[in-house]
Order: sequence, then structure tokens, then C-alpha cells
Amino acid sequence: MEGELVVSAPGGEYAVIVGRGTYAEALPGILSRLDPGGLAVVSHPSILELHGNRLREALEPKGAPWGEPLWFAFPEGEENKNLRTLEEGYRFLLREGFTREGVILAFGGGVVGDLAGFLAATYMRGVRYLQLPTTLMAMVDSSIGGKVGVDLPEGKNAVGTFWQPEAVLADLELLDTLPRRELLGGLAEVAKYGFLYDADILEEMEGWPGGVPPSGYDLGGLVFRCAAHKARVVERDERDLFGERALLNYGHTFGHALESSTGYRLLRHGEAVALGMLMAARLSELAGLAEADLWGKHRKVLFPLLGYVRPPEDIDTGKILSAMEADKKRGRALRFVLLARWQNPRLVESPPGVLVERAVGEVLAEWRRWGEA
Ligand code: GLY
Repeated sequence: MEGELVVSAPGGEYAVIVGRGTYAEALPGILSRLDPGGLAVVSHPSILELHGNRLREALEPKGAPWGEPLWFAFPEGEENKNLRTLEEGYRFLLREGFTREGVILAFGGGVVGDLAGFLAATYMRGVRYLQLPTTLMAMVDSSIGGKVGVDLPEGKNAVGTFWQPEAVLADLELLDTLPRRELLGGLAEVAKYGFLYDADILEEMEGWPGGVPPSGYDLGGLVFRCAAHKARVVERDERDLFGERALLNYGHTFGHALESSTGYRLLRHGEAVALGMLMAARLSELAGLAEADLWGKHRKVLFPLLGYVRPPEDIDTGKILSAMEADKKRGRALRFVLLARWQNPRLVESPPGVLVERAVGEVLAEWRRWGEA
């Protein structure tokens, strides 16, 4: 499925283009319109190895006025989304004579998009940039909406801003080489839009044999639907001020604690969010907010996405609760997104600790049972 939608936020109006072969087709036209005085691609070496040649061809049509692109690649991993990489980026662009008229292309997943976007937001007080997401998670969430930044040792995304891209080009062909585990993690973010806003997404996912998409399945329709939901949220609450954008953090309060209590090594972000949504759904039920069998539906859609990770022996409720306490001490408010009814999310501050503990314990036990089945 191909499609184009427009994000119309106070910080900028731009197209999100979803399709196959999208970027190779759309890039020359977009660049002609932007008329950049130079291009700089920000990416990872592994992505450039797989897809760099095709991008090079799309960026270098004969006689293109923007000239030879610059290539800035940094090693993969959240641990490199930091101030050191950012400084290397600034200095590289300065040494190469990149000016304020230039355009940066973020070519990668969430880490590349966040870092390249922040580089663009701050280099010479701000230059234009494009998002070319290469992972499912980035296509449906992080590339849209202009949240950019880097991590500090004390906290994820501790430094950043809002800086909208000039366009987002989501090319489904890039997902063909995405490791299966990354794809399933991205599907947790897709399911998130289903639980928050869109019963059709859940119906589609529930129809997959074994709960995972059959090989060759066309994800275009789902990507487009999710991008459209993200776009509407960003339009209404670009700067995360009115409680609407915060709802996109469904499952993230628990998910973040799961990631940090397992040293960021065991779980992919999407897997942590999947478990976090299971916990949030159970908490919604325990708090008497939710319709019956909310958790049952979450189990059906989310556990199959966790097929690559087994629950470790040493993880327990206490560790996860301590990680949440530590987050709170670092100034991260312990707000939970809970579901009052299907597709009816709300923010809840400080629900009773005993219910939070029960929700965590029950989901961990269920995960163990499911892992052994
Ligand atoms: N990923 C959540 C947001 O963009 O607000």
C-alpha cells in the first residue's frame, strides 16, 4: 500500500510518504524543491553497507546542483546516541564546510533519527533535515513528530528539542533486510496504536497465524495507519504539553524500568514496551478502569512478538519496582497510561503501589508460563 499524508504542526508542515521504492522515487523531487546548498547523510556503517549504494544513486543524479553528499556514519547502538557522537558530527560538518543552506538526511532507525535530528536542530542554530527511517519502529513512531535528542549517562533523551523534518520517507523495501527480531519489536509499537486508537489494527494482527505476520506480508497498510495516528497526535500536541502526546508512552513507564533493570542488554525497546503494555493493561483491570479481558487481548497480540527472548531467572518484581523508583528520583514522573475502555487511554498519576506491584508480578509470571509452553 502506498500513501502520503501531511503533518501540519506549529513547527512545520511536511509530508509522510509511505510506499515501496519510495525514497529513490521521491528524493530527487523533494531535494529540487528544497534546493539545498549541500547534503549530509547521517547513518550507521551497517545500514550504508546494505543500502548505501541505492541511496547514493538517488542522491546523485547527473548534474544535481547540491553536489556530492557528505557521509557521517557512527556505530550502532543506543550507547552511541550521546554528546560525543554529536560533537564529532558538528566538527565533521564544520571541517567539510557544510553551511546553513545544507540539508541533513537521517538514514537509519530511532537512534540515527534522534541524533541526526538534534544535529540538524542545533548545527549553526538549525538546518533543515529529512527522515529516511529504516526500521519499523522509526517508520511508525520516532521519525514523525520532531522529537530529537541524545542520552546522558543519567538519563535517556535527557537533552533534546522539537525540530520538525522537511519530509519523512518510509520505504517498506528497507524492511526486507530488517532482522526478524527488530521487525517483531516494531510490531509492538504498531499494536500500541491499535490499543490506543484503532481496533482495525488489532483485528489485522489477531488474524496472523501464530500471532506473527506471514513471510511476504505487506506491512504498508499498517505503517500508513500508524503514521496517520502519530501525525494527528503531533498536530494536536506538538510539544507534549497537553497530555495527548504523552499517551503515546503507553507501556513505556513499565518498559523503561524493564530495560534499565536488565541493563539495556536483554530486551529490545519494542519487547520492553510489549511487556510494559501487558503490565499497563493488567493495572488498568486491577484499578477497575478497564473493560473485561483487556489483558486477555493484550496477551494474544503481544506475547507472540516476544518469541526471541526468554524471561531471565534473576528478574523479579522488586527489581522492576526499584528501577521505577530510581527513574522517579531522576525526575522522570511516574505517570502511567492506562486504558479505561478500548481505545480510550488516560494518564494516571501514582496509582496504588500495591496494584502496580501485582500487575508487574502477574505479567512476569505469565511471561514465564508462556516462555515454557
Ligand atoms: N515517541 C513518542 C512521541 O513521539 O511523542
